Amino acid sequence: MGFNVQGKTALVTGANRGIGKAIVEALLEHGASKVYAGARNIKSLQGLQAVYADRIVALELDVTDQDQVNHAAAKATDVQLLVNNAGVLETCTPLDLEAEAALRHELEVNLFGLLRMARAFAPILKHNGGGALVQLNSVASLRGMAFASTYCASKAAAYSLTQSLQQVLAEQGTQVLSVHPGPIATDMATKAGIDANAEPVSLVSEGIIQSLTDGIFHFYPDSMAKDMGRAYASFAEQVIEAE
Ligand SMILES: NC(=O)c1ccc[n+]([C@@H]2O[C@H](COP(=O)([O-])OP(=O)(O)OC[C@H]3O[C@@H](n4cnc5c(N)ncnc54)[C@H](OP(=O)(O)O)[C@@H]3O)[C@@H](O)[C@H]2O)c1
Repeated sequence: MGFNVQGKTALVTGANRGIGKAIVEALLEHGASKVYAGARNIKSLQGLQAVYADRIVALELDVTDQDQVNHAAAKATDVQLLVNNAGVLETCTPLDLEAEAALRHELEVNLFGLLRMARAFAPILKHNGGGALVQLNSVASLRGMAFASTYCASKAAAYSLTQSLQQVLAEQGTQVLSVHPGPIATDMATKAGIDANAEPVSLVSEGIIQSLTDGIFHFYPDSMAKDMGRAYASFAEQVIEAE
């Protein structure tokens, strides 16, 4: 299997900044014909629209809002590639007072957002020939870290759901890619206080295009992620990716 973005129509959530914006740019630079750019505030997409004109279709899309997800699915019926990128991070240990509220918020966006988008777009991907789904997971999906404990829990849950989606979507010919970045230079890395070690967004966006072509399931974009991916490879191959 392998998915070439050339000539394809994609939808990217959280497309207005950070990794999502870089993914939109990479898709269009690699020949995607159109990208539905999802954002909570569509005014924040003006920069992308100024460059790419009608190859960008702005979609008001908060992934915590089922009505907006339904509306996106009713409008973007030609999507062949769904990139579920929108995500949030809170910094707290499991013992902090705000841990429960933080986890609820992160699950709502990082886990239920994926669930809503996958359920809404699975029939569309099927109708359009199978296509592909990309999920922005993290090294935090593989290892708990006390300073962002609830974020890690939400990303571990999203990774689990990604694996189940891969199994069920294979039946309709939809390829699934699980992306596991370490620190990447965006607002999120600044908020997490990990920006000193952060690497460029292009490692993620360009790597996604290549990983889709290669048809792989796990993708580790940056140095920290690659180190973790090497350590995890045996388990991933023998358990997660096993038939
Ligand atoms: N940066 C890293 O080091 C890193 C590492 C591993 C994984 N990741 C993952 O990569 C993805 C992108 O992260 P990033 O670094 O680009 O983060 P970011 O710079 O904080 O951007 C987050 C994006 O998600 C959007 N978003 C937040 N809540 C949303 C909601 N309810 N509905 C729709 N969109 C929403 C934001 O929109 P607004 O502008 O409206 O807030 C923004 O576009 C996330 O899933 C993140 O967990 C990031």
